[in-house]
Amino acid sequence: MKNYRITEHPILEFKRGKKKTFTYNGELVEGYENESVLAALYAAGIRVFSKSKVLGNPRGAFCMIGKCSSCLMEVDGVPNVRICTIPVKDVKNVKSQSELANPPATSSFPGNRPANINVDVLIVGGGPAGLFAAIHAGKYGANVLIVDDHYFLGGQLVKQTHKFFGSRDLFSGIRGFEIAKKLVNQIEQNSNVQAVTQTTVFGIYDGLTVGAYDHKNRRLLKIKAKQVIVATGASENYLVFENNDLPGVMGAGAAQTLMNVYGVKPGERALIVGAGNVGLIVAYQLMQAGVDVVAIVEAMPRIGGYFVHAAKLRRYGVPIYTSHTIKKAHGKNYVEGATIIAIDSRFNEIPGSEKYFEVDLICLAVGLNPYSQLLAQAGCRMAYIPELGGLVPLRNKYQETTVSGLLVAGDVSGIEEASTAMLEGGIAGITAIINIRGKKLKDAFMDREKMLAKLEEIRSGPVFERIRKGLEKVIVSG
Ligand code: FES
Repeated sequence: MKNYRITEHPILEFKRGKKKTFTYNGELVEGYENESVLAALYAAGIRVFSKSKVLGNPRGAFCMIGKCSSCLMEVDGVPNVRICTIPVKDVKNVKSQSELANPPATSSFPGNRPANINVDVLIVGGGPAGLFAAIHAGKYGANVLIVDDHYFLGGQLVKQTHKFFGSRDLFSGIRGFEIAKKLVNQIEQNSNVQAVTQTTVFGIYDGLTVGAYDHKNRRLLKIKAKQVIVATGASENYLVFENNDLPGVMGAGAAQTLMNVYGVKPGERALIVGAGNVGLIVAYQLMQAGVDVVAIVEAMPRIGGYFVHAAKLRRYGVPIYTSHTIKKAHGKNYVEGATIIAIDSRFNEIPGSEKYFEVDLICLAVGLNPYSQLLAQAGCRMAYIPELGGLVPLRNKYQETTVSGLLVAGDVSGIEEASTAMLEGGIAGITAIINIRGKKLKDAFMDREKMLAKLEEIRSGPVFERIRKGLEKVIVSG
């Protein structure tokens, strides 16, 4: 089998851990204990992870972070496991699922009584917003539990290799994956904060009782919290074009996860769709990983990302086609090529302007949408706000939603960036402890005011104009 692991990288060093084998559809596959099962299969050259249920078409993996369900497999007898969220070290036998899965044997579940947990503050999601919330709620004495469905904390910071801008208290000049390490380190030092990983919150019920499933220990958790902060982040947007479900079409963030977290090359030749900052940064990172980037297409007449990123790519000879879109992916079992086409000012295709590229990877960098289903289920008043990426909860400036005791932070409350997510997390964490302990926490009030001022300062810049418009529609007084 071909090996797609990256052996040299200008910035990253991959700590994969020990080698470990497992079977995939009966065949032995070699992986490393710290990588995800999906990354190990991808490194071994496997591209088809499921079949469409009606037509039986091959399907690849789209998100690599547990948000799209395109990688569901049977793992050690348990069906419908997202193999991008579990490490190789925990598995023995993995099987693909072509039909609806068989229910698991009940004997494989230890008992049917849920474990009861009581905490002051439950935080759903261990990315930058959730970690900052935990650090600040824990700092003022709250007993905090973070629940995350992945097998390590850090959210999407772990795949960011660029250095952050801004102020020192928000880690300027430090790369995203290093920030993740610092935050996780702070959590580990704080005895008030505990974290459970590989655990999915599936519902928020009356009286802030939360249902979760601990995949690793195969048990239900019934968590009673005084305050709940939802920081579940976002998922990547899809795009409509012919053959968009071929394996090899994936989110730009998914490609970042494969190459920057696991050190696995997502392909050999890539086309990027979308020239915002994410598209431009991922294009450059693909080149750092040894992938040939053949072109970037952007539907708008102008590049959306920073000029400095675009200029760097052009210096390396990567063409950026503005007023173009992808028309079709080619291939039978996986992507073998892509056709792009020019579009006019009304986004109509211009016949005869097609260009063909031989590629095995198409990365979609066409935006994110808030992963807000849990908030809608919990009964928060929601609004569709295009400027914030989709369906978000109404809340006040302290991040409190319309459901008492339920707060939000980060991309789930509107797509912005990691610095604002951290500040929102800090504000939500402090608000949660103030709500529990009352007005005695003078320092906490001051800390929160500082963060509110910082957030306002960051959002006052011209690039945040659209965000400000969106926030005006969802921030309610109270
Ligand atoms: S859920 Fe695993 S690839 Fe999306």
